[in-house]
Amino acid sequence: MIDSPPALSFREVSHRYGKTPSVAGISFDLAPGEILCLLGPSGCGKTTLLRLASGLEVPDRGEILMNGRKVAQAGRGVAPDKRPIAMVFQDYALFPHLNVLQNIVFGLSRIEPTERYRRAREVLAQVGLAAEKDRFPHTLSGGQQQRVALARAVALRPAVMLMDEPFSNLDANLRFSVREETRRILQEEGTATVLVTHDSDEATQLADRILLMERGGVVQEGIPDDFLFRPVNPFTARFFGETHSLRGSVEGGVLHTVLGSWPVGEGREVREGPVEVIFREQAFQFREPLPDGPRHPSFQARVLDSRPIGGRRMTRFRVVPTGESEPDGPILRASHRLTTPVPPGETVPCWIDPQLVFPFAKG
Ligand SMILES: Nc1ncnc2c1ncn2[C@@H]1O[C@H](COP(=O)(O)OP(=O)(O)O)[C@@H](O)[C@H]1O
Ligand SMILES: [Mg+2]
Repeated sequence: MIDSPPALSFREVSHRYGKTPSVAGISFDLAPGEILCLLGPSGCGKTTLLRLASGLEVPDRGEILMNGRKVAQAGRGVAPDKRPIAMVFQDYALFPHLNVLQNIVFGLSRIEPTERYRRAREVLAQVGLAAEKDRFPHTLSGGQQQRVALARAVALRPAVMLMDEPFSNLDANLRFSVREETRRILQEEGTATVLVTHDSDEATQLADRILLMERGGVVQEGIPDDFLFRPVNPFTARFFGETHSLRGSVEGGVLHTVLGSWPVGEGREVREGPVEVIFREQAFQFREPLPDGPRHPSFQARVLDSRPIGGRRMTRFRVVPTGESEPDGPILRASHRLTTPVPPGETVPCWIDPQLVFPFAKG
């Protein structure tokens, strides 16, 4: 069996806008059918990377390939309309004077006229909008417009789909279901996709694989769980949910913090000496020990307040010092089980899940 070449490859690609560096030495392969999320804070180079893939920008260094064919190299590239790509942006870019079916057919000029209508109806059914085919974009909800934009892009059967923050104009309560729907459609069509987002939840919900970017480079690459359980540095750890940072030290493989001491854990390599310790808010659990409980470290927490938010309970607490003469401990927040109420004012045991605690050597 012959392996298909990657749908898209970046090889040591760098780019700048005049003197402003945007993307620096980026390499990755996108497998056929794979959904890759480029994640990172504003200004880290995500949009530029998509513009390089689409041909709207040309690299200063490196090469870009699609289906094994070179489409760009230093200083030149194949024009956007000659690349096997489709794009979806946050503003959807639907034609206001065309109805839903025409919006899709219009983009299919590369296909036989009779086949165009068949394919347009097929993708409309797939996104659940067959009954809306005669409506005009302004009469549709934001979620429906997003699906028309997706159907129009998928209809082309592109080798690579490029999506830039495609859900940022949707209401927060719609986003979850629209993302799920988008993932289903991309998977059904087997469309290799690069999706840009600054939202870590979006990336973990949609991606087969994530590239986390910072200042034009890739900081960490992996499947969603890699980022939650195995962040490579404090930036990565903080990018995926709320965290707290405490000082600590590692001596003889044991991590010491104001919350107690416990073994650093198998598979974690941390240099001995002072460390910054990052705790996910989900690392703290109240009352009941965790499933394989007794081995988990615990401390006493004085509850300050506790509220149900987003299906979890958010509890702010102060760490109770172990000795009379010790100073007050830090104030921290836990995101824990909804069904474990912890009344404000009480002092309760708090267990730590070391899988969600990350010590990083300082300096
Ligand atoms: N047209 C442009 N001209 C000059 N600098 C730009 C232009 N577009 C983006 N930049 C700069 O390039 C860097 C990367 O930007 P961009 O790719 O838009 O990041 P992101 O999409 O991650 O927010 C930033 O420093 C940004 O200010
Ligand atoms: Mg951008």
